[in-house]
Amino acid sequence: MKIISTVKELQVQLKELRRSSLGFVPTMGALHKGHLSLVRNAISECPLIVVSIYVNPTQFNDREDLKRYPRPLKKDLAMLRKCLRKNDIVFTPDDNEMYPAEDKRIFSFGNIDNLMESLHRPGHFNGVAQIVSRFFEIILPNVAFFGLKDFQQVAVIKELIRQNQYKVKIAVCPVVREPDGLAMSSRNILLEPQVRKNAPVIFKTISEASEMIRKSDIPEIKAFVKKSIEKRAGFSVEYFEIVDDRELIPAGLKKEMEKGKRYYGCIAVRAKKIRLIDNIEFPLV
Ligand code: PAF
Repeated sequence: MKIISTVKELQVQLKELRRSSLGFVPTMGALHKGHLSLVRNAISECPLIVVSIYVNPTQFNDREDLKRYPRPLKKDLAMLRKCLRKNDIVFTPDDNEMYPAEDKRIFSFGNIDNLMESLHRPGHFNGVAQIVSRFFEIILPNVAFFGLKDFQQVAVIKELIRQNQYKVKIAVCPVVREPDGLAMSSRNILLEPQVRKNAPVIFKTISEASEMIRKSDIPEIKAFVKKSIEKRAGFSVEYFEIVDDRELIPAGLKKEMEKGKRYYGCIAVRAKKIRLIDNIEFPLV
């Protein structure tokens, strides 16, 4: 694999190496099996891929979160070395490369950016859109790979592509989980041992909730989710919403879930200092 940290060098290499389909896997590092599944999917689809490792400051609304975000670059490179091919590229830019001047662009995504993560992390998706659009414009990938764990981010990226008419296809890969069900996340290593032990309650609860929809209505399900998770010391539910996967319109009652659409229960939990998100598909009944 090649490790490149400047935009100029990246573009020179891409000009030379670009084949029929260029794959792109954006990451903020602290790689885990979830990222590796994106990388493997990209490798199986594309003769050349770029994996970026860049902790994007503009998507953090919380300075402490940005400061403590893990940055184990050496370990990340060792993991990638095991799966990337000779010409695949790891792009590790710094802030000056990605933001040579302050990015003042304001994006507008309507309802998609008006609920769930957006209410708890104001400006987060604007920052995501700034960096992802910059990557798309520098790399010009044919396919970009994103994890479904960041459910709302996937909807935002699809809208970003639509609004800007980027010629990139999005491949969405399933959530990868620890054996106990906890969704893999770079933040999991920051969990205190007791919090980590309790964290599988999140997936267990939303899995049960997705079954409950057969017999119960949404207000009852929401109360169940909150009560089950908040039984654990230090856990509080920031939101739990059942939304469709296109416009992210929340269903308040079962009868509002429309045929022909797919619905997901999306949750964010504050587990002491760390925020964890997860989601699961809800059947239409
Ligand atoms: O999902 C992430 O890790 C980030 O939001 C992304 C897409 C790499 C942009 O910084």
